[in-house]
Amino acid sequence: MKNRIHFNICERQEDEKARLFSAIELEKTTIGYYNLPEQDINGILEYVKEFNSDIENIVVLGIGGSSLGAKAVYEFLKPVKTPLRKLYFFESTDPLNIMDLLSKIELEKSHFLVISKSGTTVETISIFKYLYLRQSSASNYTFITDKESALDKFAKDIEAKTFYLPAGVGGRFSVLSVVGLLPLALCGVNIKELLSGANRVKESFFNDGYLKESLLNKAIFYAKYHTTYNINCLFAYSETLRYFSEWYVQLWGESLGKKQCNSAFHVGVTPIGLIGPKDQHSFLQLIVEGTRDKSITFIKIEDFQNELTVPDITLPHLESLDMLNGITFHDLITMQSDSVLEALKMQGDIPLDEILIEKVDEDSIGQLIYYYELLTSLVGQLINVNTYNQPGVESGKIILKNKLQKNKKVKK
Ligand code: PA5
Repeated sequence: MKNRIHFNICERQEDEKARLFSAIELEKTTIGYYNLPEQDINGILEYVKEFNSDIENIVVLGIGGSSLGAKAVYEFLKPVKTPLRKLYFFESTDPLNIMDLLSKIELEKSHFLVISKSGTTVETISIFKYLYLRQSSASNYTFITDKESALDKFAKDIEAKTFYLPAGVGGRFSVLSVVGLLPLALCGVNIKELLSGANRVKESFFNDGYLKESLLNKAIFYAKYHTTYNINCLFAYSETLRYFSEWYVQLWGESLGKKQCNSAFHVGVTPIGLIGPKDQHSFLQLIVEGTRDKSITFIKIEDFQNELTVPDITLPHLESLDMLNGITFHDLITMQSDSVLEALKMQGDIPLDEILIEKVDEDSIGQLIYYYELLTSLVGQLINVNTYNQPGVESGKIILKNKLQKNKKVKK
């Protein structure tokens, strides 16, 4: 993975970088996700090895940090790697979505992973109740939750298999824990490679490697100019990254949109996930000519490992497009992103950078995930927020639970 930065870095920020690096080293001693790349995954691998070979579908019941990471990795790899089993996600209380998903899976050939760190998330538990009534054998379920959560106690009562989140790992930072690894491994994803990609970025950052400077410089830039460039667009040139974008929006938004620690100020950099070339035909106009409030990160795949080519044919009236003849789609999409980047560079006042990932495989997505987790932690330090809580989300959940209580009393 490479990161090319196309905005001016202030040269007199060595002290700032050193302070930031020390703060992250300190944080690493208490925040669990930093050490996930080196975790022991033997328990997961054993479980996968013994898993019932008649099961064709793995069904995740979870939302937010309990589903988006696995979905990002699964959808990234799907076009190049036929999954061992299909992975489905019940994430929404939208009844049409629930019915639609149910119509796609045969319950007898499905295994359900109920994933909730807190164990009491309304979306997850309401869907679980619905499914449990139809499929109530404990052997059809595996639970992933915090030790001693209400869900853990329920799972113990029915004697179902349970995995626990490692200490200090928050929901949106949990994709490289059992939360993401178990569903992915059950579908044939090479989780060792995934972790080894993540570890490469970790090593590079913490041991003076190739990504340390760019990560520190980028974080300082985003933090320093967060009131000017208050929108961060991730412009990924591959459909495979659509769900990675969703994961990034959650990670960035829920971690960085906060009231500052010991302060009255509300801060945050709004994340936007764009996919090229589609969004060249929509959002790009706003970037080129709109308010100068956005920084843009292009993500490009260096080698699609695919030779699909535009045929060498001339069509009547469309002769002017014969310049497309014989070009591979790989080269075409790369030229498209390069052209947009060049056009934006010409504007001269839009902060730009490029992330190049080698190819579509586990190692690459592992790198990208860890890179964004680190970047989020770095920016969080600098804009002085608690990156790992989500009080804004919690208050809505409490109000909902009160409403549900009242609703139940009225019905009685
Ligand atoms: O990052 C977070 O903490 C949240 O997005 C949670 O993952 C989400 O709310 C789901 O919570 P839980 O895993 O407790 O069901």
